Amino acid sequence: MRSCSLIAPAKINLYLEIIGDRSDGFHELVMILQSIGLADRVDIKPSDTQKICIYCDHPLVPEDETNLAYRAAQLMCKVFPDVHANYGGVSIRIAKNIPVAAGLAGGSGNAAAVLVGINLIWNLGLTQPELEELAAELGSDIPFCVSGGTAIATGRGEKLDSLPNLDNIWLVLAKYDNIGVSTPWAYKTYRQQYGNSYISDAAGIKSRTAKVNSSPLVNAIVNKNAKKIGKLIHNDLEKVVLPEYPQVAKLKSAFAAQDILGTMMSGSGPTVFALCDSEAQAIAIKERVKTQINDSQLRFWVTKLVSNGIQIKSQT
Ligand code: C5P
Repeated sequence: MRSCSLIAPAKINLYLEIIGDRSDGFHELVMILQSIGLADRVDIKPSDTQKICIYCDHPLVPEDETNLAYRAAQLMCKVFPDVHANYGGVSIRIAKNIPVAAGLAGGSGNAAAVLVGINLIWNLGLTQPELEELAAELGSDIPFCVSGGTAIATGRGEKLDSLPNLDNIWLVLAKYDNIGVSTPWAYKTYRQQYGNSYISDAAGIKSRTAKVNSSPLVNAIVNKNAKKIGKLIHNDLEKVVLPEYPQVAKLKSAFAAQDILGTMMSGSGPTVFALCDSEAQAIAIKERVKTQINDSQLRFWVTKLVSNGIQIKSQT
Protein backbone atom coordinates (compact mmCIF):
# COMPACT_ATOMS: atom_id res chain seq x y z
CA MET A 1 0.00 0.00 0.00
CA ARG A 2 1.31 3.43 -0.91
CA SER A 3 1.26 6.91 0.47
CA CYS A 4 1.87 10.13 -1.42
CA SER A 5 2.71 13.76 -1.06
CA LEU A 6 1.07 16.31 -3.37
CA ILE A 7 1.51 19.98 -4.22
CA ALA A 8 -1.78 21.90 -4.52
CA PRO A 9 -1.34 25.34 -6.13
CA ALA A 10 -3.58 28.34 -5.44
CA LYS A 11 -5.49 29.98 -8.28
CA ILE A 12 -6.28 33.54 -9.21
CA ASN A 13 -9.00 34.78 -11.53
CA LEU A 14 -7.79 36.78 -14.49
CA TYR A 15 -11.45 37.27 -15.41
CA LEU A 16 -14.77 36.76 -13.61
CA GLU A 17 -18.03 37.79 -15.22
CA ILE A 18 -21.44 36.94 -13.76
CA ILE A 19 -23.91 36.32 -16.54
CA GLY A 20 -27.10 35.06 -14.94
CA ASP A 21 -28.87 32.73 -12.54
CA ARG A 22 -28.95 28.95 -12.82
CA SER A 23 -31.80 26.67 -11.87
CA ASP A 24 -29.52 25.01 -9.25
CA GLY A 25 -29.22 28.32 -7.34
CA PHE A 26 -25.68 29.00 -8.58
CA HIS A 27 -24.60 31.61 -11.14
CA GLU A 28 -23.71 31.23 -14.80
CA LEU A 29 -20.14 32.45 -14.98
CA VAL A 30 -17.44 33.20 -17.51
CA MET A 31 -14.04 33.06 -15.88
CA ILE A 32 -10.40 32.76 -16.81
CA LEU A 33 -8.57 30.87 -14.07
CA GLN A 34 -4.84 30.76 -13.52
CA SER A 35 -2.66 28.60 -11.25
CA ILE A 36 0.07 30.31 -9.27
CA GLY A 37 3.24 29.17 -7.50
CA LEU A 38 1.86 29.66 -3.97
CA ALA A 39 0.85 26.14 -2.91
CA ASP A 40 -0.17 23.86 -0.03
CA ARG A 41 1.29 20.40 0.56
CA VAL A 42 -1.10 17.51 1.10
CA ASP A 43 0.22 14.17 2.42
CA ILE A 44 -2.07 11.16 2.15
CA LYS A 45 -1.51 7.76 3.71
CA PRO A 46 -3.67 4.80 4.71
CA SER A 47 -5.07 5.01 8.24
CA ASP A 48 -5.33 2.08 10.67
CA THR A 49 -9.12 2.28 10.69
CA GLN A 50 -11.88 2.78 8.09
CA LYS A 51 -12.03 6.45 9.06
CA ILE A 52 -10.96 9.64 7.29
CA CYS A 53 -8.66 11.77 9.47
CA ILE A 54 -7.60 15.33 8.67
CA TYR A 55 -4.66 17.06 10.36
CA CYS A 56 -3.81 20.72 9.83
CA ASP A 57 -1.93 23.13 12.08
CA HIS A 58 -3.70 26.23 10.75
CA PRO A 59 -6.22 27.49 13.35
CA LEU A 60 -8.82 28.39 10.71
CA VAL A 61 -8.78 25.03 8.92
CA PRO A 62 -11.39 22.58 10.27
CA GLU A 63 -10.38 18.95 10.77
CA ASP A 64 -13.93 17.59 10.42
CA GLU A 65 -16.35 16.95 7.56
CA THR A 66 -16.75 20.70 6.94
CA ASN A 67 -13.27 20.59 5.37
CA LEU A 68 -13.52 20.15 1.58
CA ALA A 69 -10.57 17.74 1.71
CA TYR A 70 -12.55 15.53 4.09
CA ARG A 71 -15.55 15.67 1.74
CA ALA A 72 -13.34 14.71 -1.19
CA ALA A 73 -12.16 11.59 0.68
CA GLN A 74 -15.75 10.85 1.73
CA LEU A 75 -16.85 11.05 -1.92
CA MET A 76 -14.15 8.56 -2.96
CA CYS A 77 -15.26 6.17 -0.17
CA LYS A 78 -18.89 6.50 -1.35
CA VAL A 79 -18.13 5.98 -5.05
CA PHE A 80 -15.67 3.11 -4.44
CA PRO A 81 -17.05 1.30 -1.35
CA ASP A 82 -15.32 -2.02 -2.09
CA VAL A 83 -11.93 -0.39 -2.57
CA HIS A 84 -12.48 1.60 0.63
CA ALA A 85 -13.37 -1.60 2.50
CA ASN A 86 -10.25 -3.25 1.12
CA TYR A 87 -7.73 -0.46 1.71
CA GLY A 88 -9.33 1.14 4.82
CA GLY A 89 -9.53 4.84 5.59
CA VAL A 90 -7.07 7.62 4.83
CA SER A 91 -5.08 10.03 6.92
CA ILE A 92 -4.62 13.46 5.31
CA ARG A 93 -2.12 16.05 6.54
CA ILE A 94 -2.36 19.56 5.11
CA ALA A 95 0.59 21.98 5.33
CA LYS A 96 -1.10 25.32 4.70
CA ASN A 97 0.70 28.12 2.84
CA ILE A 98 -2.29 29.52 0.95
CA PRO A 99 -4.29 31.98 3.06
CA VAL A 100 -7.79 30.83 4.09
CA ALA A 101 -11.06 32.51 2.86
CA ALA A 102 -8.93 34.53 0.50
CA GLY A 103 -10.42 33.98 -2.99
CA LEU A 104 -7.44 31.78 -3.93
CA ALA A 105 -9.23 28.38 -3.91
CA GLY A 106 -6.98 27.03 -1.16
CA GLY A 107 -9.63 24.64 0.21
CA SER A 108 -10.63 23.60 -3.31
CA GLY A 109 -7.00 22.80 -4.15
CA ASN A 110 -6.71 20.60 -1.05
CA ALA A 111 -9.85 18.70 -2.12
CA ALA A 112 -8.46 18.28 -5.65
CA ALA A 113 -5.22 16.90 -4.16
CA VAL A 114 -7.19 14.36 -2.11
CA LEU A 115 -8.97 13.09 -5.25
CA VAL A 116 -5.68 12.78 -7.14
CA GLY A 117 -3.92 11.20 -4.14
CA ILE A 118 -6.60 8.61 -3.37
CA ASN A 119 -6.77 7.71 -7.07
CA LEU A 120 -3.08 6.95 -6.77
CA ILE A 121 -2.89 5.08 -3.47
CA TRP A 122 -6.01 3.01 -4.18
CA ASN A 123 -4.80 2.23 -7.74
CA LEU A 124 -8.13 3.38 -9.19
CA GLY A 125 -6.71 4.41 -12.57
CA LEU A 126 -9.15 7.32 -12.98
CA THR A 127 -8.36 9.66 -15.88
CA GLN A 128 -8.11 13.44 -15.51
CA PRO A 129 -11.64 13.99 -17.00
CA GLU A 130 -13.02 11.36 -14.59
CA LEU A 131 -11.33 13.08 -11.65
CA GLU A 132 -12.68 16.45 -12.81
CA GLU A 133 -16.20 15.01 -12.98
CA LEU A 134 -15.95 13.87 -9.35
CA ALA A 135 -14.40 17.24 -8.44
CA ALA A 136 -17.43 19.09 -9.84
CA GLU A 137 -19.64 17.34 -7.27
CA LEU A 138 -17.64 18.98 -4.49
CA GLY A 139 -17.32 22.58 -5.69
CA SER A 140 -17.33 24.80 -8.75
CA ASP A 141 -13.59 25.48 -9.00
CA ILE A 142 -12.29 22.07 -7.89
CA PRO A 143 -12.16 20.63 -11.45
CA PHE A 144 -9.84 23.49 -12.43
CA CYS A 145 -7.65 22.82 -9.40
CA VAL A 146 -7.11 19.22 -10.62
CA SER A 147 -5.75 20.24 -14.03
CA GLY A 148 -4.57 23.83 -13.34
CA GLY A 149 -2.62 26.04 -15.75
CA THR A 150 -4.62 28.67 -17.61
CA ALA A 151 -8.24 27.91 -18.55
CA ILE A 152 -11.59 29.37 -19.49
CA ALA A 153 -14.19 28.16 -16.97
CA THR A 154 -17.90 28.45 -17.78
CA GLY A 155 -21.23 27.12 -16.51
CA ARG A 156 -20.91 27.00 -12.71
CA GLY A 157 -17.15 27.23 -13.24
CA GLU A 158 -16.72 23.51 -13.82
CA LYS A 159 -16.65 23.46 -17.65
CA LEU A 160 -13.04 23.96 -18.66
CA ASP A 161 -11.28 24.89 -21.90
CA SER A 162 -7.55 25.10 -21.49
CA LEU A 163 -5.56 28.01 -22.84
CA PRO A 164 -1.85 28.18 -23.68
CA ASN A 165 0.36 28.39 -20.59
CA LEU A 166 1.43 31.80 -19.41
CA ASP A 167 4.97 32.03 -18.17
CA ASN A 168 7.30 34.81 -17.12
CA ILE A 169 4.53 36.78 -15.42
CA TRP A 170 5.16 37.41 -11.75
CA LEU A 171 2.75 38.67 -9.16
CA VAL A 172 2.52 40.15 -5.70
CA LEU A 173 -0.42 38.99 -3.62
CA ALA A 174 -1.62 40.86 -0.55
CA LYS A 175 -4.24 39.93 2.02
CA TYR A 176 -5.28 41.30 5.40
CA ASP A 177 -5.07 38.52 8.01
CA ASN A 178 -8.10 39.98 9.76
CA ILE A 179 -10.39 40.12 6.69
CA GLY A 180 -12.10 37.09 5.16
CA VAL A 181 -14.94 37.27 2.62
CA SER A 182 -17.73 34.70 2.44
CA THR A 183 -18.16 33.59 -1.17
CA PRO A 184 -21.93 32.90 -0.78
CA TRP A 185 -22.32 36.42 0.68
CA ALA A 186 -20.47 37.99 -2.29
CA TYR A 187 -22.63 36.20 -4.88
CA LYS A 188 -25.86 36.82 -2.95
CA THR A 189 -25.10 40.53 -2.64
CA TYR A 190 -24.22 40.72 -6.33
CA ARG A 191 -27.58 39.12 -7.17
CA GLN A 192 -29.41 41.64 -4.95
CA GLN A 193 -27.68 44.58 -6.59
CA TYR A 194 -27.31 43.49 -10.21
CA GLY A 195 -29.81 40.63 -10.60
CA ASN A 196 -32.14 42.70 -12.75
CA SER A 197 -29.47 42.95 -15.46
CA TYR A 198 -28.88 39.15 -15.57
CA ILE A 199 -29.36 37.39 -18.89
CA SER A 200 -32.20 34.95 -18.26
CA ASP A 201 -32.77 33.05 -21.52
CA ALA A 202 -30.73 29.96 -22.38
CA ALA A 203 -29.86 31.22 -25.88
CA GLY A 204 -28.64 34.56 -24.48
CA ILE A 205 -26.47 32.82 -21.90
CA LYS A 206 -25.04 30.51 -24.54
CA SER A 207 -24.13 33.30 -26.92
CA ARG A 208 -22.64 35.48 -24.14
CA THR A 209 -20.60 32.53 -22.91
CA ALA A 210 -19.31 31.73 -26.40
CA LYS A 211 -18.07 35.33 -26.82
CA VAL A 212 -15.23 34.76 -24.38
CA ASN A 213 -13.36 32.64 -26.93
CA SER A 214 -12.84 35.64 -29.20
CA SER A 215 -12.44 38.19 -26.40
CA PRO A 216 -9.46 40.60 -26.31
CA LEU A 217 -8.22 38.98 -23.07
CA VAL A 218 -8.16 35.46 -24.53
CA ASN A 219 -6.43 36.90 -27.59
CA ALA A 220 -3.82 38.56 -25.33
CA ILE A 221 -3.28 35.27 -23.46
CA VAL A 222 -2.87 33.32 -26.70
CA ASN A 223 -0.30 35.91 -27.84
CA LYS A 224 1.34 35.97 -24.38
CA ASN A 225 1.01 39.76 -24.36
CA ALA A 226 1.53 40.51 -20.66
CA LYS A 227 0.90 44.25 -21.00
CA LYS A 228 -2.50 43.69 -22.61
CA ILE A 229 -3.39 40.93 -20.14
CA GLY A 230 -2.70 43.35 -17.28
CA LYS A 231 -5.02 45.96 -18.80
CA LEU A 232 -7.87 43.54 -19.57
CA ILE A 233 -8.23 41.60 -16.29
CA HIS A 234 -11.70 42.01 -14.80
CA ASN A 235 -13.74 40.80 -11.82
CA ASP A 236 -17.47 41.61 -11.38
CA LEU A 237 -17.33 40.70 -7.67
CA GLU A 238 -15.15 43.76 -6.99
CA LYS A 239 -18.36 45.79 -7.42
CA VAL A 240 -19.78 44.37 -4.18
CA VAL A 241 -16.68 43.45 -2.18
CA LEU A 242 -14.63 46.67 -2.54
CA PRO A 243 -17.39 49.02 -1.27
CA GLU A 244 -17.99 46.70 1.73
CA TYR A 245 -14.27 46.43 2.59
CA PRO A 246 -12.69 49.90 2.11
CA GLN A 247 -9.27 48.61 3.26
CA VAL A 248 -9.26 46.18 0.33
CA ALA A 249 -10.26 49.00 -2.07
CA LYS A 250 -7.38 51.13 -0.69
CA LEU A 251 -4.97 48.22 -1.14
CA LYS A 252 -6.00 47.89 -4.78
CA SER A 253 -5.54 51.66 -5.28
CA ALA A 254 -2.06 51.45 -3.72
CA PHE A 255 -1.09 48.75 -6.24
CA ALA A 256 -2.74 50.65 -9.13
CA ALA A 257 -0.53 53.68 -8.40
CA GLN A 258 2.62 51.56 -9.01
CA ASP A 259 4.36 50.68 -12.25
CA ILE A 260 2.68 47.29 -12.74
CA LEU A 261 0.93 45.38 -15.54
CA GLY A 262 -2.44 45.39 -13.75
CA THR A 263 -4.12 44.79 -10.40
CA MET A 264 -7.32 43.04 -9.32
CA MET A 265 -9.08 41.22 -6.51
CA SER A 266 -9.06 37.44 -6.95
CA GLY A 267 -12.40 35.56 -6.88
CA SER A 268 -14.62 36.77 -4.06
CA GLY A 269 -11.57 38.29 -2.39
CA PRO A 270 -10.23 39.78 -0.29
CA THR A 271 -6.79 38.94 -1.78
CA VAL A 272 -5.58 41.57 -4.24
CA PHE A 273 -2.85 40.78 -6.75
CA ALA A 274 -0.63 42.88 -8.98
CA LEU A 275 0.85 41.37 -12.15
CA CYS A 276 4.49 42.26 -12.81
CA ASP A 277 7.08 41.74 -15.56
CA SER A 278 9.77 40.28 -13.32
CA GLU A 279 10.51 38.93 -9.86
CA ALA A 280 12.63 41.99 -9.06
CA GLN A 281 9.75 44.30 -9.98
CA ALA A 282 7.30 42.24 -7.88
CA ILE A 283 9.61 42.42 -4.84
CA ALA A 284 10.08 46.18 -5.27
CA ILE A 285 6.30 46.76 -5.55
CA LYS A 286 5.69 44.62 -2.48
CA GLU A 287 8.18 46.67 -0.43
CA ARG A 288 6.71 49.97 -1.59
CA VAL A 289 3.07 49.05 -0.87
CA LYS A 290 4.05 47.46 2.45
CA THR A 291 5.80 50.64 3.59
CA GLN A 292 3.00 52.83 2.31
CA ILE A 293 0.14 50.97 4.04
CA ASN A 294 2.21 49.95 7.10
CA ASP A 295 -0.33 47.56 8.70
CA SER A 296 0.92 44.50 10.59
CA GLN A 297 -2.22 42.58 9.51
CA LEU A 298 -1.32 42.92 5.83
CA ARG A 299 0.61 39.93 4.47
CA PHE A 300 2.37 39.69 1.10
CA TRP A 301 3.55 36.90 -1.19
CA VAL A 302 5.65 37.10 -4.36
CA THR A 303 5.24 34.25 -6.82
CA LYS A 304 4.66 33.58 -10.51
CA LEU A 305 2.00 32.13 -12.78
CA VAL A 306 2.45 28.36 -13.22
CA SER A 307 1.17 25.84 -15.73
CA ASN A 308 0.37 22.93 -13.42
CA GLY A 309 -2.51 21.77 -11.26
CA ILE A 310 -2.03 19.06 -8.63
CA GLN A 311 1.49 17.65 -8.75
CA ILE A 312 2.72 14.43 -7.19
CA LYS A 313 5.81 15.35 -5.18
CA SER A 314 6.63 11.87 -3.93
CA GLN A 315 5.05 8.46 -3.50
CA THR A 316 6.08 5.38 -1.58
O1 C5P B 1 -19.11 25.80 -5.65
P1 C5P B 1 -18.55 26.49 -4.46
O2 C5P B 1 -18.78 25.72 -3.20
O3 C5P B 1 -17.14 26.94 -4.61
O4 C5P B 1 -19.38 27.83 -4.31
C1 C5P B 1 -19.39 28.61 -3.15
C2 C5P B 1 -20.58 29.55 -3.19
O5 C5P B 1 -20.39 30.54 -4.21
C3 C5P B 1 -21.88 28.89 -3.55
O6 C5P B 1 -22.52 28.41 -2.39
C4 C5P B 1 -22.66 30.02 -4.17
O7 C5P B 1 -23.21 30.84 -3.17
C5 C5P B 1 -21.59 30.84 -4.88
N1 C5P B 1 -21.44 30.47 -6.32
C6 C5P B 1 -22.42 30.87 -7.21
N2 C5P B 1 -22.28 30.51 -8.53
C7 C5P B 1 -21.21 29.80 -8.95
C8 C5P B 1 -20.20 29.42 -8.06
C9 C5P B 1 -20.35 29.78 -6.73
O8 C5P B 1 -23.41 31.51 -6.86
N3 C5P B 1 -21.12 29.50 -10.24
